[in-house]
Order: sequence, then structure tokens, then C-alpha cells
Amino acid sequence: MKNDIESILVSENEIDERVSELAEQITKDYEGKNLFVIGVLKGSFIFMADLVRKIQLPCQIDFMAVSSYGGNTKTTGAVKITKDLNADIEGKDVLIVEDILDSGRTLNYLINYFRNRHPASVRICTLLDKPERREVPLTADYSGFDIPNRFVVGYGLDYDERYRNLPYIGVLKPEVYMDK
Ligand code: IMP
Ligand code: MG
Repeated sequence: MKNDIESILVSENEIDERVSELAEQITKDYEGKNLFVIGVLKGSFIFMADLVRKIQLPCQIDFMAVSSYGGNTKTTGAVKITKDLNADIEGKDVLIVEDILDSGRTLNYLINYFRNRHPASVRICTLLDKPERREVPLTADYSGFDIPNRFVVGYGLDYDERYRNLPYIGVLKPEVYMDK
């Protein structure tokens, strides 16, 4: 698995420090609110688990699953909900947790989807952001790291459902997906 990684873009320590900073900011901003943290599966699962353990407020947690990518590294533009929320978000302060903000299509779709359910507020927390790739105008309220336009894996992010369990964010060697 590690042989398929060209370089480490964000190390375990860097992730840990940044997640602590984000959680501290979120804890300040959501004091006295009805925080409801919603992770977008599967990519956010590790980030979400680390982040919520550092948020020092009562909160509800749920997950959604969407698919916008097939086995490859290019977006199709289509977003499909494959697992919906279980709970009602009306009147809640929703914080969407994503692994990466790329074209912005997934989050744009989800924000509109949530707004129709009348939450008190909706904000986005993404671990990674590739601003160069944006196709719809969207900025995250909380963002861990801006990264260049390279395909990355690890810390929840996959290529063809693999590499999610790497503890860091790494750049995948292009030959790994170019042979396919
Ligand atoms: P968007 O809808 O184009 O913003 O795509 C967001 C989704 O694309 C993320 O939740 C990821 O699942 C996937 N994605 C985008 N860039 C990468 C990457 O570099 N590595 C792994 N997955 C990615
Ligand atoms: Mg993915």
C-alpha cells in the first residue's frame, strides 16, 4: 500500500494539530447552539471521529452517504444519496463534515437538500480543499488545508475504495490509476 504513495502531503502530526484548531474554533462558535454534526460517508469517517472527540460541546451526530465518483479519479457531476439522515434537523445548527471540497458539486447539492429541511443554520467543515478545481462557487466555513490539484488518498480518502486506512494524506503515484 505504501509503495503506491509518491509523497506525504499532510503528516499525521500536522493533521492532529489542525483538527485540534478546527475543533477549538467550532467549540467557540457553537456555544449555546443546537449543534448537529453530519458526516458525509465514507470519506469523512476518520476526520469526523477525530474532530467530534475534540469538540467540547453536546452535539448530535449522524451520517449521510452520497456517491459522486465511480472507481476513477474524475467527477461525473452527478450526486446520488445512498444513505439518508435518520433524524430530523429542523431548528438544528447543522455542521456538514466532508473529507475534501473539490468541484463543490457534492456539498452544493447537500446544502440545498438540508436547507429544505429548515435547520437553524448550515455550515461546512472540510478537511481538505482544492480551490483550483471549483466548478460551483462555494467556500467552506471551516477548512483544514488547501491542497494543490493532485489526487490524494489516506485518512479516509480512497482511490477505488482503497488507501482509506493510511494515517496521513498522501499523493497517489499516477501510474497506480493510469494502468487502469
Ligand atoms: P466534489 O463534489 O467534486 O466536490 O467532490 C467531492 C468528493 O470527491 C469527495 O467527497 C471525495 O470523495 C472525492 N474526491 C475529490 N478529490 C479527491 C481526491 O483527491 N482523492 C480522493 N477523493 C477525492
Ligand atoms: Mg471517494
